[in-house]
Amino acid sequence: MCGIVGIVGRAFVADHLIEALRRLEYRGYDSAGIATLERGRLVRRRAEGKLANLAMSLRDEPLGGSIGIGHTRWATHGRPNETNAHPHATARLAVVHNGIIENFRELKAELQGFGIRFESETDTEVVAQLVSREMDQGLGPEEAVAACLPRLHGAFALGFIFSGYDDLLVGARHGAPLAIGFGEVEAGIGEIYLGSDALALAPFTEEITYLEEGDWAVLSRAGAVIHDIDGGLVERPRQRIVAQAYQVEKGNHRHFMAKEIHEQPEVVGRTLAHYVDLARSRIALPDALPFEFARLSRLSIAACGTAYYAGLVAKYWFETLARLPVEIDVASEARYREPPLDRDGLTLVISQSGETADTLASLRYAKAQGQHTLAVVNVPTSTIAREASAIVPTLAGPEIGVASTKAFSCQLTVLLCLAIVAGRARGTLSAERERELVDALITVPGLMAEATKREGEIEVLAREVSKARDVLYLGRGTSYPMALEGALKLKEISYIHAEGYAAGELKHGPIALIDESVPVIVIAPHDAIFEKTVSNMQEVAARGGRIILIGDAKGAAAAGLETLATVTMPDCDAVVAPIVYAVPIQLIAYHTAVFMGKDVDQPRNLAKSVTVE
Ligand code: AGP
Repeated sequence: MCGIVGIVGRAFVADHLIEALRRLEYRGYDSAGIATLERGRLVRRRAEGKLANLAMSLRDEPLGGSIGIGHTRWATHGRPNETNAHPHATARLAVVHNGIIENFRELKAELQGFGIRFESETDTEVVAQLVSREMDQGLGPEEAVAACLPRLHGAFALGFIFSGYDDLLVGARHGAPLAIGFGEVEAGIGEIYLGSDALALAPFTEEITYLEEGDWAVLSRAGAVIHDIDGGLVERPRQRIVAQAYQVEKGNHRHFMAKEIHEQPEVVGRTLAHYVDLARSRIALPDALPFEFARLSRLSIAACGTAYYAGLVAKYWFETLARLPVEIDVASEARYREPPLDRDGLTLVISQSGETADTLASLRYAKAQGQHTLAVVNVPTSTIAREASAIVPTLAGPEIGVASTKAFSCQLTVLLCLAIVAGRARGTLSAERERELVDALITVPGLMAEATKREGEIEVLAREVSKARDVLYLGRGTSYPMALEGALKLKEISYIHAEGYAAGELKHGPIALIDESVPVIVIAPHDAIFEKTVSNMQEVAARGGRIILIGDAKGAAAAGLETLATVTMPDCDAVVAPIVYAVPIQLIAYHTAVFMGKDVDQPRNLAKSVTVE
């Protein structure tokens, strides 16, 4: 993911911008740049490759100016070169950006219609030109940003400076984190900072305010004025962030699990950008696969826990999109069942840590049977990554919480990309259908950011869940593995017994469990089998069961049922619903466990990576 910094200072800021960008190198990048205002005039310096290249250029030809922005770019739109490096600028402004603007193509076409010419392939330059054009129409800098933000779809964070305004820095957050840092005040003149996280600002200050979803802020040496998504003025808590990196890495969250749930729009966007040619709406795997999907008669999948549930979702995708039969098993069974595997066939293993003993054993069994092996892993240096024939990494970043969250949604993202590639290779997906699927995938980071806005109501319903002894999760189709994952999330951090069931199985036994003491959490986007799930909910309601429905507005209205609670999700394409719906099931488990006072990040008896049998 990219890194953003901004400084409104008392002295030259170029060196401080570089120092802040160094703190963001851990996020990964392929180019960097800064822009400052020298006597009100915008000047910019960008360099491909490591930050040292930029620092060397600045040493040779320093940039002056006491206000500036900086960026480390992790290429999403356009090659990693100087032209595509941030900041992007017009005569009026410079901007840095982290995330994905999903609708940049439409906006770019609109601007080109006004004769505006672009120098880069990036979505960020579209933002620069869009705001600049509003200023051409007479709006001031802040008003121009405010006018454009609602037109930008996706998960992003932005930082702007403007020609002629040497005491104005504007920041905006929608799905990617952004923090404000408050410096010392000397002789009545302060310094103020903007950064992707507090780590970037730690060299200058420990006084930090995190912007919240939809906030945008106007920063000057006098301080910060923060607006919420509706434009109203808001206060956000100012906190002292201790300098230790691990504390800072929690951001403004109480637990790593909370931070990692909220990181999902950003890391799913980053993972998408690694596999999707956003400009052409098609999947473009960075590395060739050492096998051909077209020659496979079936696909075997082995994994454990949450990774196994990601594989279960993928079974539906491979079988519907690529007509590729899938056999999936938990690795601890697969490794001893010794399934007959075709030589030159394919076994896919899924693992966040890349060290899970049972999954590693399944990989080794498959290799011994002459299979190709492909690993979806979050740690590219792990044992499983090293032993597999090829890897397709999830770019979730370090996942600290024992309960897997952002790794899961990134696994689903990678698996859907693979299923689309398989469909193309096997001739079961037209180019048009692939474009539709990829366009649906590109909306996921923004939809996940939208889903996190339901957190307040989820925190309330979690109090009801915390009173239960048993909880049942139901789902059909790809919502069935989500029901299994939801149950696992709840039981592993709250210690409440929970079970996930295929909704259609209810009347084959589990319905005997139903009474008013058992919350039934139903995962039901309004898809082709929604009506069937409504019948199951009616069966539950008829027996006094208390339903918590996780669905979209259309489904909630169609269900017409009295529920204990309804978590209304944003409308989304049914294919990507499992990725978006991961957010509410994670938040239900998290807030239930927090309310119960459990050790959310290190639940009892559990380890982050099960490296023993
Ligand atoms: C998930 O929340 C659990 N922590 C656990 O089930 C985990 O998914 C499982 O142990 C597999 O781990 P891996 O993805 O690192 O292989």
